[in-house]
Amino acid sequence: MQEKFDALKESAKRELESISSSKFLGELKAKYVGKNGEVTALLRGMKDVPADKRAEFGKMVNDLKVEVSTLFDEKEKQLKDKEMQEKFDSEAVDISLAGKVNKNGSLHPLNIVKNKILDAFCGMGFEVFEGPEIDTDYYCFQALNIPKDHPARDMQDTFYISDNVLLRPHTSPGQVRTMERKQPPIKILSPGRVYRADDDASHSPMFHQIEGLVVDKGVSLCDLKGLLDEFVKIMFDGDTKTRFRPSYFPFTEPSVEVDVTCCKCHGKGCSLCKGTGWIEILGAGVVNKKVLEMSGIDSEVYSGLAFGLGIERITMIKYGISDIRTLFENNVKFLKQFNRR
Ligand code: PHE
Repeated sequence: MQEKFDALKESAKRELESISSSKFLGELKAKYVGKNGEVTALLRGMKDVPADKRAEFGKMVNDLKVEVSTLFDEKEKQLKDKEMQEKFDSEAVDISLAGKVNKNGSLHPLNIVKNKILDAFCGMGFEVFEGPEIDTDYYCFQALNIPKDHPARDMQDTFYISDNVLLRPHTSPGQVRTMERKQPPIKILSPGRVYRADDDASHSPMFHQIEGLVVDKGVSLCDLKGLLDEFVKIMFDGDTKTRFRPSYFPFTEPSVEVDVTCCKCHGKGCSLCKGTGWIEILGAGVVNKKVLEMSGIDSEVYSGLAFGLGIERITMIKYGISDIRTLFENNVKFLKQFNRR
């Protein structure tokens, strides 16, 4: 009998040794000490044991059951410990590794400059009004006193969709649309895309402008000068000077072009300013009375001033960019340089 018990214990030991995962432990335990297990079967054989040997036999079987169960408990603890250690090892974080840095996007240089321009003027009480990019001949030309034979209407400059509908070649129609809607006092900025059939290092068929319009009683060229002087100081550095040159636009009278002292050589003369010390940044003027009248504003009571600037041009001057096309190529290496406000 004892030999049988020993053999059973040995067999349980051997089988336990071959197990490497706690997953299979339950099944094996049932085979030995479960309800239909081999040790339990021994107890069932009790009835065949002579009455005087039964007590001894029962004790032996119970001892065996305790011994085998202990073997299982020990193995279970051993396997659980091993598995826990493996889990810890596999989930370990190597704190000596360099952290991963998220690559943040940044604003496009044109948006940085646009926001800066809008901020500068909004600080002076301007509101923003955006007009449509596809507009009519009336708003782009006629209402701005641009006669039928004016060179700006040339098919070579303007993208026509039909005889009367076109991609706006400037943001000046924003002036007309504002004046039609609202009586003075008016103080608006109209930013947006504009289109012209032009394509070289300093011209792009699509570019961005910001139009400014002020209409009120007693507005003069003097106000325009003060306003743009202040703007230039905010936009470039505080020492930058402005210069007004006489010019011509059909919708302003008188008209001017505004130059600033070159931000690279500060007026001494260099390649950026072509030796002159000055760089042109915008067109402006006192709003032509005819334009006020056409949009329903009494030119005897009110006067206005308007200016239009190119965002690309200001961006190129500010950052020393020599080819406008780099602004539209979306080369990340180029754009990354502006990753600061
Ligand atoms: N619309 C003009 C241009 O595109 C700029 C301008 C705007 C000039 C307002 C005077 C007044 O060149």
